[in-house]
Amino acid sequence: MKIISGPASKQLGEKIAELLGVEVVPLFFKNHPDGESYVRLEGNVENEEIAVIQTTSPPQDTHLMQLALIADAARRHGAKKISAVVPYLAYARQDRAFLYGEAVSIEVVARILKAAKIDSLITVNVHKEKVLNKFPFPAKSISAIPSLAKFFKQKGFDKAFALAPDKGAMWLAEEARRVLGGEYDYLRKHRDRYSGQISITKKAFDVKGKKVIIFDDVISTGGTIALAAKNMKEAGADNVYAACVHPLLIGNAEKRILEAGVEEIVGTDSIQSHVSKVSLAPLICRELKHQEKKRG
Ligand code: R5P
Repeated sequence: MKIISGPASKQLGEKIAELLGVEVVPLFFKNHPDGESYVRLEGNVENEEIAVIQTTSPPQDTHLMQLALIADAARRHGAKKISAVVPYLAYARQDRAFLYGEAVSIEVVARILKAAKIDSLITVNVHKEKVLNKFPFPAKSISAIPSLAKFFKQKGFDKAFALAPDKGAMWLAEEARRVLGGEYDYLRKHRDRYSGQISITKKAFDVKGKKVIIFDDVISTGGTIALAAKNMKEAGADNVYAACVHPLLIGNAEKRILEAGVEEIVGTDSIQSHVSKVSLAPLICRELKHQEKKRG
C-alpha cells in the first residue's frame, strides 16, 4: 500500500504513512489563477493499492474536487485499488430533502467519488451512519469518541459525566461513558430548519459538583456546545469541557464556547487546528490494516 496525502490532510497522511511504514507518493498541487484545482502525482502508483487521505473541511468544494482529481490521477496511472480516507465527510448532514426544493447533497458527493473511480471510503464519525448506504461502493465510518474519552481519562477525568447535545448523538455519550466509567445523558435540542436557531427543552440532570464533558461529532458555529454548556452550568456542574471529532470552529465559535463556561475544547486532527489534541492516525491505520487483511 502507498499513501497519497491530500492537501487538506498533509500532516495526518504523513503520520498514517509513518505508522504503517509505507511510502507517501509525492503530490504537486496548486490553484490556477482562475481558482481551478490542479494536482499531479510525482511518484509511481502502478499496480499499487492507494489510500488517499483527504478531509473535506472548508473550503469543502475545493477539497472534494482535489480528492476527485487525485483519485482520477491515481487510477489513470495504474493504481489497482483506491481507498479514500475522508475523516470529515462534508455534506453528510444534508442526507435528505428536509424542505421542498432542496438537493440531497451527500448523494451528489457519492456520485462524484464514484465517477472519480474511488473503490471504497473510510470516514470518521459520519453524522448519520445511514448516509453510507448512499455510496455505490463499500463505505465505513469509524469512531474517534473512545480516543477522545481516553484523552480525558488520561488527564484524570475518570467517572466524568458524558453528555450528548441531542438525542441523535446519545450513542456518542454512551460510547464515551464506556471509557470514562461515569454516567451519561443527552439534551433535548431542536433546530429550526429555516433560521438555523437552536433551543433546548428543559430536563433535569444530576451533574451538581461534577465534571461534564460534552461529546459531539462536529463543532461548527459553536452554538450547540455553548447552549449545552450554559445548561450544564445552570444545573450545577463544576467544570464543563467539550470534545468533538471535527473541529470546524467557524468564525467566533471558540470564543462563544469559552464564554459559555467551557474550560477546554478537545478535537481531533480530522481538521487540523490548535484544538487537535487527539490524532486519528492510529485509528485509521488500524482500519486500513484490517481492510487489507480482509482482502487477503
Ligand atoms: C448536529 O446535529 C451536529 O451533531 C452538531 O451538533 C452541529 O452540527 C454543531 O453545529 P453548531 O456548532 O453550529 O451548533
